[in-house]
Amino acid sequence: MTEQTTPAHGENSRKVFIKTYGCQMNVYDSTRMSDALARDGYVQTEEMAEADLVLLNTCHIREKAAEKVYSQLGRLRDLKAARNREGREFMIGVAGCVAQAEGEEIMRRVPAVDVVVGPQTYHRLPEALSRARAGDRVVETDYAIEDKFEHLPKTDAARTRARGVTAFLTVQEGCDKFCTFCVVPYTRGSEVSRPLAQIIDEAKRLVDGGVREVTLLGQNVNAWRAEGPDGREWGLGDLLYRLADIPGLERLRYTTSHPRDMDDRLIEAHADLRKLMPYLHLPIQSGSDRILKAMNRRHTADDYLRLIDRIRSVRPDIAMSGDFITGFPGETDADFEATMDVVRAVKYAAAFSFKYSSRPGTPGADMPDHVAEEVKAERLERLQSLLIEQQAAFNQSCVGKTVSLLLEKPGRFPGQLIGRSPWLQSVNVDAKGVEIGDIIPVRITGTGPNSLYADMVLELS
Ligand code: 5AD
Ligand code: SF4
Repeated sequence: MTEQTTPAHGENSRKVFIKTYGCQMNVYDSTRMSDALARDGYVQTEEMAEADLVLLNTCHIREKAAEKVYSQLGRLRDLKAARNREGREFMIGVAGCVAQAEGEEIMRRVPAVDVVVGPQTYHRLPEALSRARAGDRVVETDYAIEDKFEHLPKTDAARTRARGVTAFLTVQEGCDKFCTFCVVPYTRGSEVSRPLAQIIDEAKRLVDGGVREVTLLGQNVNAWRAEGPDGREWGLGDLLYRLADIPGLERLRYTTSHPRDMDDRLIEAHADLRKLMPYLHLPIQSGSDRILKAMNRRHTADDYLRLIDRIRSVRPDIAMSGDFITGFPGETDADFEATMDVVRAVKYAAAFSFKYSSRPGTPGADMPDHVAEEVKAERLERLQSLLIEQQAAFNQSCVGKTVSLLLEKPGRFPGQLIGRSPWLQSVNVDAKGVEIGDIIPVRITGTGPNSLYADMVLELS
């Protein structure tokens, strides 16, 4: 009997393999689920073959992302059958946004799935697993009244240290903007901000675990609002000023922002805070006012361009990044050209662009004049070649400059380390006398397809 309860690899602990799809918030949620499972004796493995529990942390944003989940579940069903024949436990869990949107459907379509937990209920995962072990199939997707963060174990310094010198920290979740293409208001719920004290505590813990750079996360991160110690309502700008006071926390970033929530205090933070990196991900989605209106973005292309001018006037070295959708319903050639014009005006350092994907339940799905797939694809290709050109030009403009680099991990060759520039570029450097976690000045010497090359220098010029 002992053979049936003890994994075949001969260790007492159970192993969990977590596969994360989608955005950075899912990456963060996966770390928190891993911490919660660790309390139950689960050790995380990078090998699916040796896992006793496979957890898919899923993304629902586009049709393709959601489809991937079902094909992966098909493979897991077969793996589970094989494991069960050997008399070994093998559980399948689905978390994230597909779980939230289609929990019951997942259970119906894939009987091998044991538990489903949503983005707001994953603190209940350990309990759901023990109920599943007792024979239940558990779906936990009701929006919990309790705050999951209050119920999750705090990440200890050793686990943080094992994850590296940069970390994500969710400060805000959900969305009240209701862009007509987007499922997020339905999967992640309405905008909720974490309280200030919780965020400061987590940031300090990360620093105690060796983290030097924190990226604040939220679907609408710049809509973060909470009561400050002065009794006033604080916004993201105030939060950044406060976090910049934490000794040892050297770099701050935040993502993703909505143009309508870029307030004066946040722009001031970009001007003042040396620790706030000069990089801003600010999606516009389309450059056509007609399409922006149909998307319910509640700003024009000109509002967006003027906002960037204001930010650049206080922080001239800021690098811009954005998200774009081609082929939203009703998009004409002229509308698409307006998007290309915005891209030419802004000159992006990085960007993400997608073909419109019709999502059931969103207003866009019911709009007339859906654009043919090949037209969406053609526009996407033109847009992406312009964006790639701009990214290459931006990288090229860094050659010869001395920049600060946060050393993150070993490089491909002995003696080489890979670090991150203030503009989120990955940079290879031959490093002597320095270690991971150090922030050092380097001179950029060249560019490669996915990263830059640099030499160490003694001082920032
Ligand atoms: N189709 C295509 N892209 C989408 N995005 C969100 N919803 C859709 C959709 N239905 C893109 C937007 C958003 C990013 C996270 O994903 O550009 O900013
Ligand atoms: Fe995917 Fe959006 Fe959910 Fe992130 S929030 S996991 S991108 S659907």
